[in-house]
Amino acid sequence: MKVACFQGFHMSKQFDVIVIGGGPGGYIAAIRAAQLGFSVACVDEWKNDKGGPAPGGTCTNVGCIPSKALLQSSEHFEQANHHFADHGISLKDLSMDVSKMVARKDTVVKQNNDGILYLFKKNKVSFFHGRGSFAKAVEGGYEILVSGAREESLVGKQIVLATGSNARALPGTPFDEKLVLSNDGALRIGAVPKKLALIGSGVIGLEMGSVWRRLGADVTILEGLPTFLGAVDEQIAKEAKKAFDKQGLKIELGVKVGEIQTGEAGVSIAYTNAKGEAQTLEADKLIVSIGRVPNTIGLNPEAVGLALDERGAIVVDGECRTNLPGVWAVGDVVRGPMLAHKAEEEGVAVAERIAGQHGHVNFNTIPWVIYTSPEIAWVGRTEQQLKADGVKYKAGTFPFMANGRARALGDTTGMVKFLADAVSDEILGVHIVGPMASELIAEAVVAMEFRASSEDIARICHAHPSLSEATKEAALAVDKRTLNF
Ligand code: FAD
Ligand code: NAI
Repeated sequence: MKVACFQGFHMSKQFDVIVIGGGPGGYIAAIRAAQLGFSVACVDEWKNDKGGPAPGGTCTNVGCIPSKALLQSSEHFEQANHHFADHGISLKDLSMDVSKMVARKDTVVKQNNDGILYLFKKNKVSFFHGRGSFAKAVEGGYEILVSGAREESLVGKQIVLATGSNARALPGTPFDEKLVLSNDGALRIGAVPKKLALIGSGVIGLEMGSVWRRLGADVTILEGLPTFLGAVDEQIAKEAKKAFDKQGLKIELGVKVGEIQTGEAGVSIAYTNAKGEAQTLEADKLIVSIGRVPNTIGLNPEAVGLALDERGAIVVDGECRTNLPGVWAVGDVVRGPMLAHKAEEEGVAVAERIAGQHGHVNFNTIPWVIYTSPEIAWVGRTEQQLKADGVKYKAGTFPFMANGRARALGDTTGMVKFLADAVSDEILGVHIVGPMASELIAEAVVAMEFRASSEDIARICHAHPSLSEATKEAALAVDKRTLNF
């Protein structure tokens, strides 16, 4: 970092690269840029409960990490409540201390915040806690103002914007985080609600709905679309829905949400069901999980003429270049799936492009995971997409019911499904619903990245007994030669 008198007015700290936003897109871009020899600043405004820095963005503070901590705690409770007895383990007076569960989640979050601060130190990334906004374009770069506990002026030759996204509210129903909750409030519920309503049965709806159902809440999810998990392979979505129905997670499809009223008794949601009948759902709390919107609040894009699209996302090309020279944008604030690993990949690629290297993000091999039980994971195209694209394909499935490890685990729900090109046998999509799908999908991602065929996977030796044998068997099923089913 250099300190220079900038245009005679104030002292600006100068950097090769300034990253605005310290979520997975931003902090990873900052570290990679520092590894490549640049002087790097990362500006992030997230505050912890004490007002201190909490880098890691949505993912670390109110997203991936805390939701997975609660999913784990609640799954332990579910297992102890309903499944330990199958193993001969009996428990008396089982109880759930929600405040302890939430405190544990907060500790996990803090470990991740601290880990990022440590990584910044290790990689010599200068961290600024505060809001970063464009002041103006200057010769050879941009001036960024940081407003936090102290005001700072920074000048960067290259700027990487990674300002993430915010929860979308229902029109006319703002989040109060007490009765009407975004993902933030949903992760801070202090006691198990008797009745919990959710609007939107997407990723957050299913994950958060699962947490509180496992802990004893009566959970109803209202979904606007007539199909369940429309982006997921239909066969997999159907299998998942069967499992959720069995668990008692109520999902009403094809509803039209009307007026929402809050009062002392909780929340009342008027809606029309799929048959067109007027209904009212009463609940203690409501989680609204109807998607997220790109966040550029506070960036002051007008100061430099940064182009946004009609959704408010920063406009970028295939390589994350904005309309301004030397300004890049990555992660949730640009097009593409709102996933932490997608943001990270873009962050690395941008740092490498700044260094004149060939950064690489393959949008066809970005995996998706929904961390419910059973887990749902996929990569590549679904059967319905292949049909729509007119691609001739072969399909192979293998149920966990026929997998020895799944039987030993006592978790035999679901299947692995392979879709391969009918002529070349190249793998076009892999879809899993079942135990540890989040881990199993990695093999499929590697295979697709290397443009493997289903026969390649079928010929690879997989450890026995392991869930991954179901992957090999599904690959064999493409050629109609499973060995264990
Ligand atoms: P963010 O993580 O949103 O980070 C942006 C950062 O920029 C924030 O810290 C913000 O405070 C800061 N910022 C914004 N504007 C400014 C400014 N002007 N100045 C300074 N700082 C600023 N994805 C997965 O892949 N797996 C999951 O399991 C998963 N679970 C999720 C669970 C929930 C409940 C939610 C809500 C999301 C989940 N996601 C998950 C999505 C994931 O969190 C996002 O895709 C990811 O965080 C996007 O990273 P990002 O770096 O683009 O933005
Ligand atoms: P989502 O896009 O996954 O699901 C939103 C759902 O709400 C959709 O099914 C949609 O049809 C429905 N919907 C929209 N408007 C509605 C309305 N007015 N009435 C009823 N239903 C309505 O969005 P969600 O769950 O809010 O999550 C946001 C994003 O966060 C995800 O898309 C994902 O990118 C990310 N995320 C990722 C996770 C993971 O990777 N495991 C976990 C949680 C979030």
